[in-house]
Amino acid sequence: MSPITLDAAHLAPDVTPEQVAAQRSRLGWAQQTLLEGTGAGAAFRGWLDPAGMVDDATLAEIEDIASDLRERSDTLVVIGIGGSYLGARAVVEALAPAGAPPVLYAGQNLSARYHADLLASMAGKRAALNVVSKSGTTTEPAVAFRLLRAHVERQAGAEAARALIVATTDANKGALRQFATGQGYRTLPIADDVGGRYSVLSPVGLLPIAYAGIDIRALREGAADCAAAATSEPDPLKNPVLFYAATRNLLYNQGYCVEVLAAFEPRLHYLLEWWKQLFGESEGKDHMAVYPSSVEFTTDLHSMGQYLQQGRRMLFETFLHIDGEDEPVLPLPEGDDADELGYLAGQPLTAINDAAHQATALAHREGGVPNLTLRLPRLDAYTLGYLLYFFERACPISGYLMGVNPFDQPGVEAYKKNMFALLEKPGHTEQTGRLHAAAGHAPEGSRIRFP
Ligand code: PA5
Repeated sequence: MSPITLDAAHLAPDVTPEQVAAQRSRLGWAQQTLLEGTGAGAAFRGWLDPAGMVDDATLAEIEDIASDLRERSDTLVVIGIGGSYLGARAVVEALAPAGAPPVLYAGQNLSARYHADLLASMAGKRAALNVVSKSGTTTEPAVAFRLLRAHVERQAGAEAARALIVATTDANKGALRQFATGQGYRTLPIADDVGGRYSVLSPVGLLPIAYAGIDIRALREGAADCAAAATSEPDPLKNPVLFYAATRNLLYNQGYCVEVLAAFEPRLHYLLEWWKQLFGESEGKDHMAVYPSSVEFTTDLHSMGQYLQQGRRMLFETFLHIDGEDEPVLPLPEGDDADELGYLAGQPLTAINDAAHQATALAHREGGVPNLTLRLPRLDAYTLGYLLYFFERACPISGYLMGVNPFDQPGVEAYKKNMFALLEKPGHTEQTGRLHAAAGHAPEGSRIRFP
C-alpha cells in the first residue's frame, strides 16, 4: 500500500476530484508517452526502473566503497552541482542517523569564502572526496575538485589520497572518467540514459547516502514500489502520481503559475531544493510552466506567510506533512503560565506542529491559495525513496501535459557560454571582446555611485 496519502479537500473549488477524473485520457497519453519512450527526451528514461538502474551487484559495490571510505576517513566531501549533488544532500540531511560521519559539500558555488572555510574546517580531519560530474567539465565542481584534491594529497600523501577519492562520472567518456582512470581512483558509473536531476537513486546519490549510514536498499525498495504502483493504476483518483500531475496542470491553466512546496520539518530543506531543480529545470521552457518555489514552516509563516495569505493570487501550495509516528515525543512541560501556554502543557510538539499545518492549509485556502497535502506516515529510507520517485515520475508526466521536453536543459548553457568567454577558456574566445565590452561599458547613467 502506498505510504503517500493525498489530501485534496483544499483544492476545491479550483480543482475537484471530478475535474481530475476527467483528465484520465490525457494522463493516460502522457503516461504512455513516458513509458513507451515516444516523447521528447526519451533517451533519458533510465531512472524509470529503479532496480534496473542500480542492480544488486552495483548496490553491493556502492555499500563496499562506502564502508571502506568510512574506515579511512572522518568526513566525506561531495563535490558536484545541480543534479550531481542535490539528491544526495536531500536524503543525507533528512535521514542521516545521529553519530554518522558528516557529509560536506563543495563545488555547488564559486564562492572563495565558502571554499576557504570548508578547507579550514577540514584541517586535521581525514577527508575523503566523492567528485560527481556526468560531463566531467562543469566549472564549479572542477574548480572545487582541484582545490580539495590538492588539500587531501597534501594531508594524506599522494599515494594514500588515491584510495580517498572516488569519481562518479560517465561510464566511458569525458574528462573526469579519463582523469580518474589515469590516477587510479575508484569510479562509479553514471548511465547515459540518466540525467542529473533524475539521478538521486543512481550511484550519484547512493554513495554519499550510504556513507552517511542510510539504508540504500530500503530507499531503492520504496522507489521501486512507487514505480510499480504508478504504472499499474490508470485511474488518477487512485494513482497519486497522476492526481498530482493533473492538479498542477489544471491549476496552471487557471493562471496559478507558482507552486509553493511547503514543509513543516527543517530537515526537509534540501528535499525542497532538490524538488525545485527537478521541476524548474524539467519544465521551465518555451516561456511557460509553473515556477517552483519553497517555504519552510512555521519559520516562513512569519515572513512569506503574509504574501501567501494576501499577496497576488497566482500561487498554489503543496504541503509535505510527516505524521509523527517516529518523531521524538516532546511534551510541553508544566510551568508558570506567564507565557500563556498552560493550555498546551502535556501536548507533544508534533501535535502543535500538526495544528500549525492544518491552520495554515485552511487559512491559505480561505485566502485564495488552493492547496493539497502529501502526507507520509514517517520519514525513513523507504518512505523517502517512495516520495523521491513520486516526484520524479510526476515531473515528466506534468511536463508532457505542458508540452515541453522534461529531460533537457538548454537554457543552462547561456551563462556558461558567457562565463567561458569572459574567462577566456580556449576555444570559447569568439565572444570575449564583445562580452568584456558589454560588461565593462554600462550604458550612460546605468551604473550609479552614491555619495
Ligand atoms: O540536472 C542536470 O542535468 C544538471 O543539474 C547537472 O546535474 C549539473 O549541471 C551538473 O552537471 P555535471 O554532472 O555534468 O557536472
